[in-house]
Amino acid sequence: MKRPYIIAHMVSSIDGRSTPENWPNKSKMAGVFEGVAKKIKVDAWLVGRTTMQEFCSHKAHRLGRPYRTIGYTDFVGAHKGRLYCVGVDPTGKTRWDKNMVTTEHVILVLTHRVSTPFLRHLRDKQVSYIFAGEREVNLEVAMRKLYDLFGIRTVRVDGGGATWGKFLKASLIDEISHVALPVADGSMGTNTIFDVEEGHSSRRAKVLKLLSVKRLPGDCVWMRYRVKN
Ligand SMILES: NC(=O)c1ccc[n+]([C@@H]2O[C@H](COP(=O)([O-])OP(=O)(O)OC[C@H]3O[C@@H](n4cnc5c(N)ncnc54)[C@H](OP(=O)(O)O)[C@@H]3O)[C@@H](O)[C@H]2O)c1
Repeated sequence: MKRPYIIAHMVSSIDGRSTPENWPNKSKMAGVFEGVAKKIKVDAWLVGRTTMQEFCSHKAHRLGRPYRTIGYTDFVGAHKGRLYCVGVDPTGKTRWDKNMVTTEHVILVLTHRVSTPFLRHLRDKQVSYIFAGEREVNLEVAMRKLYDLFGIRTVRVDGGGATWGKFLKASLIDEISHVALPVADGSMGTNTIFDVEEGHSSRRAKVLKLLSVKRLPGDCVWMRYRVKN
């Protein structure tokens, strides 16, 4: 199967917590994420639906009645550039005013659980979408379609914890870019950088090969790993 090269990029406290709720200097932390992300040149960045809410419409869009004429087939919206942002939105909760996030064209990964009015909404806004599964998201299918339909060869998975966890579980991460912030969080039950399942299961943890370590301003440490599959 041909699929893009996948780099999971993340920022966390030294204990792996990834939501900055009780961190001082929240915006500075976001700056660290973006600053390092810019150094990782990719064709597309990808986030889960929760993180994608930050980038989509905050207006109330009325979706209307079901449409019989819209089939559950992939759709490529009109766009010019070759940079993309991908959101995993299995049941169609996001809404859109336009089909771009800054310079990137929006592609949504959907399942057949989305409604036809939602598909109509995406077509009206020329937001691209691909189907990857009937009820559950099949990330391998999604990655293959990004490769085949859009020519995407490299993807940076930008979170959050649930999404990094799904990619880890599916053995779809080639490389990890992890910035450890000088923060000790300790909030049990909050998001971590890989949220897969509770407790130990039969799933084996991945073994990593350290590629580089760099000290960044503000006592941050940037580590890059190759995932041994
Ligand atoms: N520290 C960092 O570097 C960093 C980076 C990004 C985000 N964040 C923070 O992380 C938090 C959000 O993280 P999160 O883990 O709660 O959510 P998330 O990973 O952003 O989104 C999770 C949601 O995405 C959908 N999804 C993604 N992959 C899926 C799959 N393979 N199968 C089925 N559904 C899938 C589901 O949507 P539905 O719920 O619609 O089913 C799921 O609930 C935010 O607070 C954000 O600020 C931190």
